[in-house]
Amino acid sequence: MDQLNGKSILVTGGAGFIGSHLCKKLSSLASNLTIYDNLSSGKVENVKHLPKVHFVKADILDLKKLQSQEKTDLIYHLAAQVVVPYSMENPIEDFETNARGTLNILEKARKDDARVVFASSAAVYGNTTQLPTPETHGFSPDSCYGLSKVVGEQYCNMYSKQYGLDVTIVRFANVYGPKCHGVIHDFLDKISKNPEQLEIIGSGMQSRDFVHIYDVVEAMLLSATSDVAIGKTFNIGFGKTTTIIDLAKIILKILGLSEKTVIKPTNVPWQGDIKTIWFDISKVKKTLKWTPKISLEDTLKELILERKMLV
Ligand SMILES: NC(=O)c1ccc[n+]([C@@H]2O[C@H](COP(=O)([O-])OP(=O)(O)OC[C@H]3O[C@@H](n4cnc5c(N)ncnc54)[C@H](O)[C@@H]3O)[C@@H](O)[C@H]2O)c1
Repeated sequence: MDQLNGKSILVTGGAGFIGSHLCKKLSSLASNLTIYDNLSSGKVENVKHLPKVHFVKADILDLKKLQSQEKTDLIYHLAAQVVVPYSMENPIEDFETNARGTLNILEKARKDDARVVFASSAAVYGNTTQLPTPETHGFSPDSCYGLSKVVGEQYCNMYSKQYGLDVTIVRFANVYGPKCHGVIHDFLDKISKNPEQLEIIGSGMQSRDFVHIYDVVEAMLLSATSDVAIGKTFNIGFGKTTTIIDLAKIILKILGLSEKTVIKPTNVPWQGDIKTIWFDISKVKKTLKWTPKISLEDTLKELILERKMLV
């Protein structure tokens, strides 16, 4: 990754789950790295140990502050409101952060002529029967979050077309790994509190494409350094889908709780939930020569050990 040497890099949302892992890797490759984060869900502890990193606590909605940051060569734009049910309760706030916030980032990139990698989501596809889902599937979001990501993507495409900005869009499936949030984290939390019962929101038959954060970071590095990535959109997933009930069973088996813990689906999904996420990843494999290497089964035990839940 010599291409990043000497480059000035700005990572929005760098104190969050994905951003902090990305910044850890970038801090070993680049000497001029700035994290721009309002700490609304991110934590400074995630990144304060990183060497040579400049941290700016600020909001992407503060365009003046954003534009006053030193000229940058590359922006990873990850800052976002990321919770689907929250977006359904707070559509305007979600739109502000994810749509207008992305527009602000593109304005900063336009001023600096910076390359942009934008973090989008499986939520732009919504509920679909085209499985595994390729990038060519049209937008059909079923949540305000999905729609605000669509708007972000469309602005990226517009800036690329009309201003000649170098933009790459990466649509993530379900990213997991150390310090993650989301369903795996929720299950482990619930089991720690009450090993007798594990509540699953919905039927448990909804399924997800789980991709490990270390694989995601590799894909993000390639997205910012490879010439063929410019102007492209990539699905970043494992290319396999796992039902939530199977995920629960695997976790309980690792913990030795299969006989003890009763799985209780609520049978009521949250508003905006998607039934199946299953990515077709052939495009990214072919174009960026990226293949996810870490499987869910291989790493769940590690995650559980990290939380000291196994004796
Ligand atoms: N984690 C996943 O499985 C997943 C899946 C699909 C897409 N994504 C996308 O990847 C990106 C990172 O997600 P994550 O899982 O690391 O989430 P996260 O919540 O851990 O990180 C988001 C970061 O953005 C910051 N932030 C939020 N609003 C901000 C604002 N207005 N100004 C400045 N900073 C702000 C937060 O403080 C946080 O540090 C997001 O854009 C998300 O939509 C994540």
